[in-house]
Amino acid sequence: MSKKTTITAVILGLALTGAAMAESHMDKALKDAKDAREAHMELYSFNLSLLGRMAKGEMPYDADAAGKAAANLATLTAMDQARYWIEGTDEMSIDETRAKPEIWENMADFQAKGTALVDATQTMEGAAGQSLEALQGAMGPLGGACGACHKAYRAPKT
Ligand code: HEC
Repeated sequence: MSKKTTITAVILGLALTGAAMAESHMDKALKDAKDAREAHMELYSFNLSLLGRMAKGEMPYDADAAGKAAANLATLTAMDQARYWIEGTDEMSIDETRAKPEIWENMADFQAKGTALVDATQTMEGAAGQSLEALQGAMGPLGGACGACHKAYRAPKT
């Protein structure tokens, strides 16, 4: 190989490495966003399941624990989640996600479903620590708010 060819090959090699690095950097940002929103959802689930078990009589009603779980849910919904839901993180674009592309086609509706959850968690926060009956009354709308968004925007398990 002549000296000139070698240098060209090195420069080309560097350029390709740069492009690959830029791409993997972006892939990581997309994956991080997906991982973060899934972790957030798991925290919803962790707190909601305590309330659900009490509501169904699967565990004794505990006003303090119920009030804390409901407060956690309300706090979680108050967090800004915009950076979780970035373009290019739907199930057609990246692996290991169930986020439907329709989210980005109907962002206003998706956000409205998020706002409905805010309202439902606030109602639950006012009810959970009061009595088992109050908790049970707030459970349907709260579970419904999770379910309405999943039905529209979460793909079935594969
Ligand atoms: C505004 C829409 C919306 C609301 C409201 C919502 N979710 Fe989700 N949830 C989603 C989407 C979209 C996914 C799929 C995310 C992904 O796979 O990247 C998801 C995924 C999940 C997952 C799976 C997470 C994982 O590890 O893959 C759980 C559990 C979950 N949600 C629980 C809940 C619970 C409990 C509530 C209510 C307290 C709730 N969600 C409210 C949209 C929503």
